[in-house]
Amino acid sequence: MTKYESLVEKNNKVICNTYGRYPVDVTKAKGSRLWDLAGREYIDLLSGISVANLGHCRDDLADVMAEQARKLVQVSNLFYQAEQVECAEKLLATCGADKVFFSNSGAEANEAAIKLARRYMRTVKERDAYEIITLEGSFHGRTLATLTATGQTGPIKDGFGPLPEGFSYVPVNDIEALTSAVSGKTAAIMIEMVQGEGGINPLDHDYVDGIIALAKEKDILLIVDEIQSGLCRTGKWWAHQHYGITPDIFTSAKALANGLPMGAMLATDKAAKGFTPGSHATTFGGGALVSKVSSKVLDIMTENKLDERAAELGAFFMGEANKMKDKYPGKINSVRGLGLMLGVELGFDGSEVFTKLREKGFILNLTKGTILRLLPALTIDKQDLVVFLDALDSLLAKMD
Ligand SMILES: Cc1ncc(COP(=O)(O)O)c(C=O)c1O
Repeated sequence: MTKYESLVEKNNKVICNTYGRYPVDVTKAKGSRLWDLAGREYIDLLSGISVANLGHCRDDLADVMAEQARKLVQVSNLFYQAEQVECAEKLLATCGADKVFFSNSGAEANEAAIKLARRYMRTVKERDAYEIITLEGSFHGRTLATLTATGQTGPIKDGFGPLPEGFSYVPVNDIEALTSAVSGKTAAIMIEMVQGEGGINPLDHDYVDGIIALAKEKDILLIVDEIQSGLCRTGKWWAHQHYGITPDIFTSAKALANGLPMGAMLATDKAAKGFTPGSHATTFGGGALVSKVSSKVLDIMTENKLDERAAELGAFFMGEANKMKDKYPGKINSVRGLGLMLGVELGFDGSEVFTKLREKGFILNLTKGTILRLLPALTIDKQDLVVFLDALDSLLAKMD
C-alpha cells in the first residue's frame, strides 16, 4: 500500500464523508507549489480556493505568526485588542465602509451581514422587512441561513429542511425580475459581483446600476459577498470597485489572513447602526493572532500593488485563452473573469481535460462540469501561467 492509499483508508475511517476530494494528498506548500507524500510537485492554480492570495507558507507571515503566538493569541471579545483595531483600520482604508465585525469564516461573515440587514430594518427603520433577495447560481455558504441564501437547488440543500424563511431568488442580470421581487418585506439584495462557485460570471454594469437605483428608491440595503472576489483578486481591492459602488454591507474571508481562518463583515456607519452591544458576537473572531497576520497580509498587498498585478496577469491570461478559443472553434465556449478570478468554459464535458491537467501537475477546479476555474496566487510567476496555457493548448489539440 502506498502512503497515499494508506492515508485515504484512514481518512475514510475517521473523517465525515462530506467531501469529493481530488486524488491528491498535500504534505507541503510554498508559493505556488504543492508537494504530495510521494514527493510529486504541482503548480497550484487554485490557492486553497482563493485563500493563499500571497502564495503558501511565506517566511514573512510565519515570522509574524511565531512572534504573535508568543505574545497574545486570543482572549475573546470581552477585551479591547490593539491588533484587532489595527487590522480594522487597514481594512477600512481599502474601501468605503466605516465599521468591521470580524468572524472566523465566510459563512459567518454572511450570517452577520444577513442579521445586520434584518436588525437594521427592525430597529433603525422600524419596518418589518426581513426578506433577503439573492441571485440564482449564487453561493453564500453552508450554515443554515447562508445555505438558504445560496441560489442553488439539489444536493446542496436536500435533506436540511426546514430552511429559514425570508429568502427569495431572481435570475442574474434581469432587473425587471429583481424589481418585481422587491416588496415591503424586503430588507436587502445580496449579490456576488463575480459569481465564483456559479462559474465565474461577472455581473453586467447596467444591471448593477439598476440595483443601486432600485435599492435607493425602495430604501433597502445592498449586501455584496466579496468572500472569493475580494482582497485584490479581481484587479482591484474589491470587485465592487470595478462598478464604482459602495455597498451598505460587504463580506470578506478566504484570503484575509492568507490561510488562517478569518472573516469580516464591513458596513457603512448607517447600516452598522443595526447592531448594538449583545446583538451579535463570536468567541474567536478578530483574535490577536489572526488580526496581526491579517494586518501583515494587507500591508504586503498594498506595498506590492497586488491589485495591479492581478489585473495585468489576468488580462494576459484572458488574451492568451481567447486566442486559444479562436484556434479551436467549439472547444472553448467562453473565457470569463476579472483579474485573476478566471474561468475557461469548455464546449464539452470537462472531466477528461481536468483529470489530464492534474496528471500533468496542475491543480485547478472544474465547476459546473465544463468550466475550468483558476484562482492562482496573486504572486504567481507569469511563467507558471504560460506553462499551464501550453499544457491546455496541447490537450485541446488532441481532443476530437
Ligand atoms: C462567494 C462565497 N461566499 C461564501 C463562501 C463561504 O465561505 P466559507 O467556506 O469560509 O464559509 C464562499 C466559499 O467558497 C464563497 O466563495
